[in-house]
Amino acid sequence: MVGAMTGFHKNIIIGPYELDGNVFLAPCSGVTDLPFRKIVKKMGASLVVSEMIASQAMIRDSKRTMKMVEKCPEEHPATVQLAGCDPDVMAEAAKLNEDMGADIIDINMGCPAKKVVNGYAGSALMKDLELARRIIEATVKAVNLPVTLKMRTGWDDTSRNAPELAKIAQDCGIQLLVVHGRTRCQLYNGKSDWSFIRQVKEAVNIPVIANGDIVCEDTALQALKESGADGVMVGRGSYGRPWFLKHLQEFFKNGQKCQAPEIAVQKELLLEHFADIIEHHGEVVGIKMARKHVSWYSRGLKGSNDFRVKINQSKSSTDVHQLINNFYETVLEEHSRE
Ligand SMILES: Cc1cc2nc3c(=O)[nH]c(=O)nc-3n(C[C@H](O)[C@H](O)[C@H](O)COP(=O)(O)O)c2cc1C
Repeated sequence: MVGAMTGFHKNIIIGPYELDGNVFLAPCSGVTDLPFRKIVKKMGASLVVSEMIASQAMIRDSKRTMKMVEKCPEEHPATVQLAGCDPDVMAEAAKLNEDMGADIIDINMGCPAKKVVNGYAGSALMKDLELARRIIEATVKAVNLPVTLKMRTGWDDTSRNAPELAKIAQDCGIQLLVVHGRTRCQLYNGKSDWSFIRQVKEAVNIPVIANGDIVCEDTALQALKESGADGVMVGRGSYGRPWFLKHLQEFFKNGQKCQAPEIAVQKELLLEHFADIIEHHGEVVGIKMARKHVSWYSRGLKGSNDFRVKINQSKSSTDVHQLINNFYETVLEEHSRE
């Protein structure tokens, strides 16, 4: 395969930033918090994006929101994703984030969640392109930062207007688009329609990133081929595999598929990730936040079901740390006997 990949790797440019490659981590509320972004970026993602931040909560200065916009040095250019339906509030929230050290602002026009679309934010904006335009204009004008936008293909099958929104976005100064190849009404059902993303790519001159259902090298390649997009964004495929984006990047560069790291290395990565979770969220919240990650890292390893039960019952970070150590030591011993 070496040499056959020409054209799939490229360094994406967003405003003043030339990224190292074209593989992005998707914003995922409740998952892509600072510790996760840090480990994925450290391992080799081109760009990581914060969880969706409600613009109203941002300007109210809510404690939880302030925690969500904290950044680490590793993640620069730090991208903060904002959601909202009021142009003035979005503009104010974007400016606040600029003042707090964001390097790029991303606008969410893809979230399908009821509590978001009922407030006419997220993917509901794809039903009201005039409001979408006003939000984009206000946000772009409010900051001296590049602004990007993430959308779905449309609201439903009868209104797949992503190419139209893309043109509006480009005209208003948006510098990069991400398209998740599903409609809002699909939620997460069916398949991401990568070939539809090609219509967005052909409608604009700014970089377009394809998203949805990219879980291995082959799906990443297929997504690029079908969409003609400039890069890929990966969400669920990165869970428990912070090395996966780096592997995709290597594959785009040289056609080589990388092996998952040795179990001993996976253990060290999980322990490092866990320590960061506790440091960032504190003991009580951190233990709860860590559960899903621990479960994802250990998925498929022998004894992982029992391990998960024990982790979910643990009440202290020392216990969780010890359980991780013991579990991986047992797995390693078994591997050495095989
Ligand atoms: C748990 C979860 C939380 C998500 N939160 C966000 C979010 O905050 N902002 C956003 O734009 N998309 C969000 N998404 C959508 C993802 O960014 C992505 O578009 C979608 O999962 C499809 O990509 P994937 O198949 O690689 O996961 C979320 C998805 C999941 C599963």
